[in-house]
Amino acid sequence: MRTYLVTGGAGFIGSNYIHYMFKKYDNEIRIINVDALTYAGNLENLRDVEKRDNYTFIRADICDKEAIGKIFAENDIDRVVHFAAESHVDRSIREPEVFVKTNVLGTAVMLNCAKAAWEKPNGSFQEGKKFLHVSTDEVYGSLENEGEYFYETTPYAPHSPYSASKASSDMLVRAYMDTYKFPANITNCSNNYGPFQFPEKLIPLIINNALQGKKLPVYGDGKNVRDWLYVEDHAKAIDMVQEQGRLFETYNIGGHNEKQNIEIINIIIETLQEMLADDDPRKALVNKDLITYVEDRKGHDRRYAIAPDKIKAEIGWEPETMFKEGIRRTIAWFFEHEEWMKNVTSGSYQEYYNKMYNV
Ligand code: NAD
Ligand code: DAU
Repeated sequence: MRTYLVTGGAGFIGSNYIHYMFKKYDNEIRIINVDALTYAGNLENLRDVEKRDNYTFIRADICDKEAIGKIFAENDIDRVVHFAAESHVDRSIREPEVFVKTNVLGTAVMLNCAKAAWEKPNGSFQEGKKFLHVSTDEVYGSLENEGEYFYETTPYAPHSPYSASKASSDMLVRAYMDTYKFPANITNCSNNYGPFQFPEKLIPLIINNALQGKKLPVYGDGKNVRDWLYVEDHAKAIDMVQEQGRLFETYNIGGHNEKQNIEIINIIIETLQEMLADDDPRKALVNKDLITYVEDRKGHDRRYAIAPDKIKAEIGWEPETMFKEGIRRTIAWFFEHEEWMKNVTSGSYQEYYNKMYNV
């Protein structure tokens, strides 16, 4: 039975990954989820799995080398899947230091603890141990021209404190692979959407605001392009890279689904109107007049677009969920989880939201 150490498993992608893995492997694997439970970490995301005998939650900060070292000492970890990070670009522009701490120092601690646990006296590593570092397409910077794509060989050119910190963490993983032959992979993925996404990110924020008849903030001219991938497809890709990918390689993961922000917002409004019953009072609130152009994000990257050619050619992964279907599933999930949304939009999230949008 393989034992997984998942960091950041109480966040958006981490919790979807844990659900995916239990659905796929059931009792064949054991998962230890380590999460500091920052504002973005929510144990409600894992209610369905928390009673499983093969699941353990440990609250710890990945920068705490004693706590992380203890987990490795007490458990024979076979796989690390490292999600834990500060993940929101706008927050990084306001408060860069915590991004450097968690994303760079935290990754160094994870690498060092895994290396200490897995390294043999002769400097080689125990057979079969693997570390997967979950990263982002934002490390490649911004594409200006149609027809250009990010490849694994595209030079790094991060612009925001968030992407700079993720780029630094990727470089550390590369350094461990090059220097020690540390058994790792890096994945660089495009924008995810789906269940459990914190409503500071575009898609859940728009769904949540529209249902309450609140303004829908569009940064700049609304024509920035992102490449959207349904989160379950990302979870599947991570597992396939870790089990079938070549060690020491980087794999780009993307949705083949480039859309301008304003298109996304229009699709969400139209889909909400289709899905809400005629007698639902929210139906009258949802309309395109809510769209409000606001000040642009500082240093706002214009376009991201992943070429997922390598992962398709080597591993056979490709995106499965069409955006039309994925957005309907996401909206249906939010309809069924009103309580979840109420809980995460109270307290500290609300304070942040008010500061960000001058409410
Ligand atoms: P998220 O913000 O929803 O979740 C991050 C999780 O990490 C939270 O549970 C949080 O409590 C935890 N965490 C934060 N700091 C920690 C610390 N110091 N110690 C332990 N746990 C800590 O993020 P997400 O959107 O799920 O992203 C997960 C990973 O995927 C990140 O590394 C991110 O860079 C990467 N990624 C995200 C996207 C996306 O579209 N969201 C796309 C590509 C890559
Ligand atoms: O590309 C992968 C990245 O995608 C991940 O690495 C990040 O962790 C994740 O947060 C995401 O970053 P983005 O900055 O692209 O996502 P966000 O949802 O914040 O914004 C998407 C686009 O929508 C972006 O161009 C900014 C714009 N936007 C966002 C918000 C929150 C708006 O126009 N209005 C908004 O209110």
